[in-house]
Amino acid sequence: MQPNNFIVLEAGDTSFILSCEIGGRPQIVYWGPRLERTDPQLLVKLATRQHAHGSADEEASGTLLNEIGVGTLAPPGFSAHRSGENWAASFHVESITQPSPQSVEIACADRVADIKATHTISLDAQSEILTCGTIIENVGDRPVALEWCAACVFPIDARLTEITGFSGRWANEFQTEKVPIFLGSYVRENRRGRTSHDCFPGLIIEEVCTSEQSGACVGFHLGWSGNSRIRVDQLSDGRQFAQLGELLLPGEQMLASGERYQTPALYAGYSHVGRTALSQKFQNHVRHQVLNDRLGGKVRPVHFNTWEAVYFDHDEEKLTELAEVAADVGVERFILDDGWFGGRRSDAAGLGDWQVSKSVYPNGLSNIIKRVNDLGMEFGIWMEPEMVNPDSDLFRAHPGWILGIEGLPQISSRGQYVLDLTRADVFDHIFSAIDAILSDHNIGYVKWDMNRDIHHPESRAKPAAHAQSLAVYRLMDKVRAAHPDIEIEACASGGGRADYGVLEYADRIWTSDSNDALDRQIIQRGASHFFPLEILGAHVGPQKCHITGRRLSMELRVATAFFGHMGLELNLLTEALNEIEILKAGIALHKAHRSLIHSGEYVRLDTPSDVNAFGVVSEDMDEALFSYCLMTGHRETLPGRIRFAGLNSEKDYRIKIIWPEPVPVRTAPSIVNELDLGGEGAIVSGEALMQFGIQAPLVYPETCIIYHVLEQ
Ligand code: DGJ
Repeated sequence: MQPNNFIVLEAGDTSFILSCEIGGRPQIVYWGPRLERTDPQLLVKLATRQHAHGSADEEASGTLLNEIGVGTLAPPGFSAHRSGENWAASFHVESITQPSPQSVEIACADRVADIKATHTISLDAQSEILTCGTIIENVGDRPVALEWCAACVFPIDARLTEITGFSGRWANEFQTEKVPIFLGSYVRENRRGRTSHDCFPGLIIEEVCTSEQSGACVGFHLGWSGNSRIRVDQLSDGRQFAQLGELLLPGEQMLASGERYQTPALYAGYSHVGRTALSQKFQNHVRHQVLNDRLGGKVRPVHFNTWEAVYFDHDEEKLTELAEVAADVGVERFILDDGWFGGRRSDAAGLGDWQVSKSVYPNGLSNIIKRVNDLGMEFGIWMEPEMVNPDSDLFRAHPGWILGIEGLPQISSRGQYVLDLTRADVFDHIFSAIDAILSDHNIGYVKWDMNRDIHHPESRAKPAAHAQSLAVYRLMDKVRAAHPDIEIEACASGGGRADYGVLEYADRIWTSDSNDALDRQIIQRGASHFFPLEILGAHVGPQKCHITGRRLSMELRVATAFFGHMGLELNLLTEALNEIEILKAGIALHKAHRSLIHSGEYVRLDTPSDVNAFGVVSEDMDEALFSYCLMTGHRETLPGRIRFAGLNSEKDYRIKIIWPEPVPVRTAPSIVNELDLGGEGAIVSGEALMQFGIQAPLVYPETCIIYHVLEQ
């Protein structure tokens, strides 16, 4: 049967077409470059398939959930039952509403199984990102055991054959991992109870030939800070589907009569001109929809974070000295990291006791906060509200307040347990503790940490990973409601809680605990597929990185932190004086270009593997910055030309190298003298910079150069 009702959502360059009629099954017909002159009915005809021997007489078309009852035999996007009955749902459309031309709500039901599935899909007019979700409701009398519900199942065009997943580990997040789609299933499951370092809930699927500036690709991200599942399935009939959703633990969603389950939001984008354009869509969506311009244009201040400077060795005098040097080099916000409270003299004790430690701060925090404020800086503070150490007053008083499985020993991680925030008494206690600290002090910023996986997420004999994730959101929300000017940084041992779900409540992400600039080049490049630069915390660390042991120049460390929400995390009192001067110059340069870095269009460049290069271009293409980092030695004696992207071919630009100073070119004469790149620079057309490129100077490995490009 051919459908005759279509929902067409259009924005900018994108069309999204659903066939959807009352009594039928909703299906995605098209998602791609905008179609101006094509009748959707024709698309359905053009996609006519036929019977193949050995197959069902009539092929079942995929739906928004590929439910078992539909009969595609594809891994379903929905799985539920009632004590073994009603196990093969098949949803039919009951009503279609379009709250706006950009969005649709499709209410479906299976009237035999007595389950409703309501899909919401919207295409953002500005970013062209689709946001999809599904609500499942038990409309029968007996409970429904919901095992799985994807936010939406997307058919994937057959020419998109390459999957890029995002893997990693602590201190090495956002690593890209490319695999070809194969006949079978690509499945990634995150069971850590937080977004995770190793299984970021996002992926890109592209053509073999897709590059940063050309070729088709689609990207998906699940906005959720808990367990997740991603799967891409290719069927033997040639069709392929992608689905993302929350991974539910056994029995986690037992829907009583009338109860509902709502999937996390799935964000999806399309580009036919390469990966960079896809990233720009996701980044714009975060800027304007997820964060919703919450900070109202407030600049992102340069941070000083005390962690790698002092760890647990808090001393008011030393911290005051650090604050003085920090202010002198240009820092604008001073963040007191772990170690200021309770018995927290190491990571083995104190979590849960959110009172200022009298032994370390006999006068409370007011003195140091006042000094920081007098130096012209805001004050921020570290907390890890979801956790408790067994060695803490809180745990001694309430040993039963933690998540854990009855009869199984607690699994401790970093010497800590997870508080059961799904309980009202625990939630209220922790909220009051945070509220007291924020009410009693002039604090504008909270680094909200979460330093362990949740191995045994059980509360009151039931699985509670889902409820715990929601409770964390509620807690953040309540803190923000009580303290509307507070900014929150989402941190989970670095980038273990980086997703659009938490960004509804947080303003910044601590991208990684690794401040190794070379590692950071790759980590930040990976994160840029989904996140704009201004929310990615990027710190200048010590000369010898505490995590990798690698020694890197101050110039490279500055150039790397320059393209993020810049901060410092090193002992300024022990750094060499000349390095401090370089740092100071780097911070001043960052501030001079901060508004461009934090608002421009991000462009990744295709380069040989020994180079990482990208840029930020202003909206009207009159100014840009490009970063060229030679990570390791190149194979050939000389590097090649750098081809920029994102500029206007019609415009002429003055190009200069603005960092480091002087340009560390190894031999002369060179392109640097020829074009006076370290001085006045040269005028070059956008066309030449993009189509022909500019010779990269010969520099030592581990050197990062920043080009400034300004319209003439
Ligand atoms: C993990 C974070 O990622 C670090 O930056 C630091 O805040 C420590 N926790 C403190 O315990």
